[in-house]
Formats: sequence, structure tokens, C-alpha cells
Amino acid sequence: MTHQIPIVRTVAALRETVNAWKREGLRVGLVPTMGALHHGHLSLVHAIGEKADRVIVSIFVNPTQFGVGEDFEKYPRTEVEDCRKLETTPASLVFAPNAAEMYPKGFASSVSVSGISDRFEGALRPGHFDGVATVVSKLLLQSMADVAIFGEKDYQQLAVIRRFVADLNIPVEIMGGTLIREDDGLAASSRNVYLNAEERVIAGQFNVILRQLVRDVEGGANLRVAEDTAKQALMDAGFLSVDYVSVVDCETLEPLAHLNGEARVIAVARLGGVRLLDNMAIGSV
Ligand code: PAF
Repeated sequence: MTHQIPIVRTVAALRETVNAWKREGLRVGLVPTMGALHHGHLSLVHAIGEKADRVIVSIFVNPTQFGVGEDFEKYPRTEVEDCRKLETTPASLVFAPNAAEMYPKGFASSVSVSGISDRFEGALRPGHFDGVATVVSKLLLQSMADVAIFGEKDYQQLAVIRRFVADLNIPVEIMGGTLIREDDGLAASSRNVYLNAEERVIAGQFNVILRQLVRDVEGGANLRVAEDTAKQALMDAGFLSVDYVSVVDCETLEPLAHLNGEARVIAVARLGGVRLLDNMAIGSV
């Protein structure tokens, strides 16, 4: 069913609506996004719609999670199209605050998660996870959501969020949303629009190479050898560089020495000016 989605821009108005829902005993779900919605985001809205009576989709391009020289300025901002796409989903409301609403004058606090935030994306993008953890804490508290969902595409982000939600006793259930892929298997991402036609073809090899790594590792290959083989295959396929390909513990994201039950391969490779992220389960069948 198609319906027009109301947009709320202030925390006060959001709270008013959510309080009214809660008085009716309704369960509230939150899908935090930075907009530029694609079918990966829409799948999160549908998934949380199964668990909540009302669904808030937040759209906020969060400046504090972008580093110097990253794409904050050029990050796609497509609010009108985003709201149109949500019309055929279970979304009840869009929360689209501006930066002054989220970070008013005098704002001086930050949520920082040590250990799990320090590796991989955290090491390559200093301050990134502090920005994510701070804005997500705010969104959870502003919305008073009972359940919130984050895509498994950003696997480390999901692990960081689970960590601080548990550590800070934030009363919300965190769901992981299945990674959604394009027809050729490329992980759906708002940044895929930056790829030119030639790069887009090469990008389709990322998941193929990771699938081979998963097969190798499940077949007993040495983890370091399998990671190096995958890195070389990515370079041979035409990627510009590889930030990491690592087989890690699913929860702590510590690199594993040996496969011992379930694990995850997480990887980032660069193509043009784009960092592509992907990850896959290992040993989960
Ligand atoms: O995954 C994202 O789009 C962002 O990191 C999030 C969770 C919306 C926080 O800004």
C-alpha cells in the first residue's frame, strides 16, 4: 500500500509522536540511515516492519563520522526520492534533523568504544566510529526505539553498535539486516553510484573472490595464505588497492589464527575513489 510519509525535523516533535505511540502500547522500530536509500535500506525497513508497529527512518548525513578528505560534501542527498521510495514500505515517519538540531552550540560529548573500534575501519578512518557511536546513541535516545536495525554490510559498525548498546544498557533490541547484493553480487551501497561503467564491472568480482576465499578456508586452507590469495586476485581483477581481507571472530572482530567454528571474512578494496566494503559468513552451515 502506498502512503505519504510525514517528515519530522526536531527531537521535540519526534518525542511527541513517539510518546503518543507508546501510550497506545505500540512497539517502535528505528532504521538509522544517511539517506540515498537503495534496496538494501528498504529491506531493513521491511525487516523491522515485522518486529515493530511503527517504523521511524532517520535520514541524517552525520558530519562527525567523516574524516578529513572524505566525501561528506559530495555524499548523495536525495531526501525527496528517499521519501518516495519509503511510501511502499512499513515506514511510518521520517526523522530528518539538520546538523544544528543534532549538534547544537556547545555540544561536547562523545561515545567511544575501545578495542573493537580500533581495528580495520577504525584504524584507517580515525574518529569514524566515535562519530557513528555518538550519533547512533543520540538517535536511539531521541527515538526511544524498542528495536533498531543496521545492515550487515557494515559488519564492524554493527559489532561496535552491539557493544556500546550492551555496555551502556540502552534499552533497545539491535537487529542485523542481511547484506543485500546487486544482480552481479556487489554489496548494495549508496557509494556505488560513484563508480564509472568500467569500475562497476570490476566491482562485480569482489564478491566472487571472497566466495572463493570462503570455499578455500572451509576446505581447510591456511587463513593467511587464503587472505593473501584473495588480495592478489583482487589486484589482478583491476582493483586499485586492498585495505584489508581478514578472517575474524564474528563478535570481537579479532583476526583468527585458525578456523574454530563460525567466523567472518571482512574486506575493503578500492576502485577509483571508492572504498568498497564486503563481508561473508564462514562455517555457518
Ligand atoms: O550506516 C550508516 O548509514 C551510518 O553509519 C549510520 C548508522 C546511519 C550512522 O550515521
